[in-house]
Amino acid sequence: MERLMRSLFWDENSQSLKVIDQSCLPTELRYLALHTSRDVAEAIQEMVVRGAPAIGVCAAYGMALAAKESNYTDTAKLKAYLHETGEYLLATRPTAVNLTWAVENMLALVDQFSGSVSELQAELLSEAQQLADEDVKANMAIARNGAELLMDGDVIVTHCNTGALATVDYGTALGVIRMAHEQGKHIHVYVDETRPRLQGARLTAWELTQYGIPYDIIVDAAAGYLIRSGKVDRVLFGADRVAANGDVINKVGTYMLSLAAYDNGIPAYAAFPTSTIDFDSPNGDAVPIEERDPDEVLALTYQGRVVVPEGATARNYAFDITPHRLLSGLITESGVLYPPFFRSLAVLKHVGRNA
Ligand code: MRU
Repeated sequence: MERLMRSLFWDENSQSLKVIDQSCLPTELRYLALHTSRDVAEAIQEMVVRGAPAIGVCAAYGMALAAKESNYTDTAKLKAYLHETGEYLLATRPTAVNLTWAVENMLALVDQFSGSVSELQAELLSEAQQLADEDVKANMAIARNGAELLMDGDVIVTHCNTGALATVDYGTALGVIRMAHEQGKHIHVYVDETRPRLQGARLTAWELTQYGIPYDIIVDAAAGYLIRSGKVDRVLFGADRVAANGDVINKVGTYMLSLAAYDNGIPAYAAFPTSTIDFDSPNGDAVPIEERDPDEVLALTYQGRVVVPEGATARNYAFDITPHRLLSGLITESGVLYPPFFRSLAVLKHVGRNA
């Protein structure tokens, strides 16, 4: 089976971060070279790189690039510049907590560091590489843990893109599906197209094609009908942030999908690395929900024509909050957590995220 290359990687030759330009898929698979922290911020903001784990690792490399781009010969000045860059990167997208997690990780290293500028540059690059490798390792464990929940013949609805593209490699929720498929289980996927940026129709469908997993794209609103008709066995999606009580913040539409699953007794699972858990947010309402440019909604065309009347206005909420009571389980690299989630998450925090 054809394997994707990593969605992002450090290129020694050009001393840049190479990322798959997700805005060009599925038409074209193209890598873009990011040379500065500003390039990285722009790529995250414009969703050239997207998906919570990919955003986090990309920002970590952004910090490493910041250390290289500055002309400071004084470590203290470089440290101050890195803190400024951290703030700047954090402002790109507010909801995915992996971004905060990665930048804070890098800044913790900066704060503890004593040594020369060139040593700090090398340390930051090596830390970013480590976060990238750990992401792949975590995703493989998520996939193995989650695949145990899937049965031969399962029909699954998934939302947004949670595959290799949304991570460094392999994926979270889509990684679970991919693993089950690689284990020989016959899985059929209904892919929510995921308005307005169409991550499902463009990216998940593209990945499933690569892996040879059968699927059909559906409009987001069709999921409820399919679930109620008894045509779906499980619902599986990712997370941008998970609050301490198990509320899941994910791509807008996840809440309605989970409601339909719950109302029909169909299990719904969120799959994510433990770096997506935000123990500082007691529940989903404490999490900032990104509101993007209304043009992403208004620019919709049908048969080559803009669909909305001139002067139409829109609100473009990028994420929503799924209350924990609608979820059957949380799939992480440390195992599958079951309700009550406030307790299973607290245990996870206590024993250590990777235990
Ligand atoms: O706006 P996006 O495309 O970055 O949103 C992505 C999602 O909502 C994903 O479901 C989530 O980040 C998990 S990706 C493994």
